[in-house]
Amino acid sequence: MRLMNAIGLRHKGATELTSMTVPIPVINENEFLVRIHAVGVGSHDRWFIPNDAFFPYAIGIEAAGEIVERGSAVDQFAKGERVLFGNARQPKGGTWAEFAAVVSGDNLIKMPEGLSFVDAATLPVAGGTAIKGINALDLSHNDTLFIAGASGAIGTLAIQMAVDRGYRVAASASSRNQEYLLSLGAELAVDYRDDYWVERIRAWMPDGVAAALAIQPGTGVQSLPVVKDNGKIVTVSGDNNFISVRDIHIEQISFHPATRADVLQLVADVATGKIRVVIDQIFPFERGIEALERIEKRHGRGKTVLTFD
Ligand SMILES: NC(=O)c1ccc[n+]([C@@H]2O[C@H](COP(=O)([O-])OP(=O)(O)OC[C@H]3O[C@@H](n4cnc5c(N)ncnc54)[C@H](OP(=O)(O)O)[C@@H]3O)[C@@H](O)[C@H]2O)c1
Repeated sequence: MRLMNAIGLRHKGATELTSMTVPIPVINENEFLVRIHAVGVGSHDRWFIPNDAFFPYAIGIEAAGEIVERGSAVDQFAKGERVLFGNARQPKGGTWAEFAAVVSGDNLIKMPEGLSFVDAATLPVAGGTAIKGINALDLSHNDTLFIAGASGAIGTLAIQMAVDRGYRVAASASSRNQEYLLSLGAELAVDYRDDYWVERIRAWMPDGVAAALAIQPGTGVQSLPVVKDNGKIVTVSGDNNFISVRDIHIEQISFHPATRADVLQLVADVATGKIRVVIDQIFPFERGIEALERIEKRHGRGKTVLTFD
């Protein structure tokens, strides 16, 4: 049995993450085995454990690496090809490991020339969520948008994508990130700890913005006063259990993957430099638990990544 280093849960019901040595997953005829070079870290990582997981179980749902084996029934992708992928709910183990079994070629995206493993690993979850959120807003060129909790992994991409589509963006973060939000293309930056941030957005758009993208938990309800009558709030963190006012439509997006064509476009835009990836911090893999505890405080600027290199 071939072994590898991983971080995860030793047994069903375990709550504490541990560094462990586990068997390298054995792939079936439809799967791929990927040697992982960089892992994207997200505040959800502790909680995505499939019901049919085999233990000990490596956590993690996104990474970038190279294909080292492919099942006999697949002819997509070649050994050695560099790929990025989301891999949620894989019972054989997640991406916080030296190798991962990827369930289908549909999960794999070929990395363009010039894209690093670190940058690629930031894209499957935060990029996919930014895409789903922006699409769900259903806005047109020159429409106005407020993005709440916008200097983190999702917001950093979402601001740039919204500006690229011609939307006019106001965004929130704490005082230390105001210049950062503007550097990403926001027209107005507000501090969510400022008592007058709602008034500042209303001064910018007296009738309210057309829509809000609420990234951090709790920001959906907080966004209500800045959205115009009959506007829209899209929440990504499951906080949709608040009562709407003034016919504002509330939509919660799911954890399902974004459309493949949209993800391919984002990857291409990052590779050409049209969209900028921002790395908060790179941790060596063995310090993964420390990295996760840090980002669970929800004050990262951009995305945190683990590397094996
Ligand atoms: N639906 C989906 O498919 C999906 C997928 C992935 C993640 N998610 C959800 O998305 C959320 C994580 O987003 P992320 O990865 O972008 O987070 P993140 O990187 O941790 O974001 C940190 C950002 O949030 C800001 N922030 C912290 N507390 C805030 C508050 N009370 N009000 C407003 N802003 C606040 C921070 O600003 P300062 O540092 O300046 O304070 C910073 O801009 C999680 O709740 C996760 O469940 C959903």
